[in-house]
Amino acid sequence: MWQCPLCQQPLQLTEKFWHCENNHTFDKAKSGYMNLLPVQSKNSKQPGDDKLMLAARREFHSTGGYAPLMAELAEQIRKETSHKAAISLFEAGCGEGAYIRYLRRALSTEFSSLTTAANDIAKVGVERAAKADKESQYIVASSYHLPVLSESVDIVLEVFAPGSHTEYARILAPDGKLITVDPGPEHLFELKQHIYENPQKHDSSVNESVAFTMTSQAQVCFSVDLQEDRRRSGLLGMTPLYWKLQPEKRERLSATLKQVTADFVIRTWCKTS
Ligand SMILES: C[S@@+](CC[C@H](N)C(=O)[O-])C[C@H]1O[C@@H](n2cnc3c(N)ncnc32)[C@H](O)[C@@H]1O
Ligand SMILES: [Zn+2]
Repeated sequence: MWQCPLCQQPLQLTEKFWHCENNHTFDKAKSGYMNLLPVQSKNSKQPGDDKLMLAARREFHSTGGYAPLMAELAEQIRKETSHKAAISLFEAGCGEGAYIRYLRRALSTEFSSLTTAANDIAKVGVERAAKADKESQYIVASSYHLPVLSESVDIVLEVFAPGSHTEYARILAPDGKLITVDPGPEHLFELKQHIYENPQKHDSSVNESVAFTMTSQAQVCFSVDLQEDRRRSGLLGMTPLYWKLQPEKRERLSATLKQVTADFVIRTWCKTS
């Protein structure tokens, strides 16, 4: 499934190393992930989300805060792949891996073969993801230059993460599907009301894609109860807005916010022929 990020030839695994025919080698970290991000593609020393936000996301997801979204994603994937016995699922920008980990568990008994893999540009996220899930493959890589073989994936999933539709189209099999998740208009509106004088709803209009044609769109909207401390601190900590506040404002928010609306738009896309 992997290709060399330097010369785009397939990577083979021999003992501890992955290598291409041009002898570019990549080793597996102890926790099981591979770093396939060429040094020259790093724009900063620690690209992507930082440790605090990743830890908060893990904490929030461990409480099942977005369980209805995850269940709906599993359902969409079932629908899109019902005619297949074996599928390969790839998540772009997986963070600490909550979605791909959930999907691996939810779908593992439904296919004769299920390959799950994911990337993120943040090494700390990929490391956490790999430690928590030994059955999926995790790589440090940019979603704008994926070291994934062309036409080797059935489903690409992208949840609240940046990436290149051209790259997703390249790695997807001809009948493969891209599933994207973006915030819906009401997403975290109560949180915004606490922060802004004139909070605005999310603009959930769709961006045109040259490489893909949208085939379906579904909205998943539900209330998230924040009475449980871990869930509340997790949700606040994984939200970039929260970190922009003064410490006293953060404390006040944490003491008063008891519920938020989660609102998502799930879109399915097929490759434009
Ligand atoms: C809002 S988070 C979403 C993470 C995860 N999908 C989730 O919903 O829990 C966005 C993620 O995209 C990652 N990211 C940012 N730029 C990226 C890039 N160029 N390639 C891959 N991942 C990137 C960040 O490190 C972060 O983990
Ligand atoms: Zn190479």
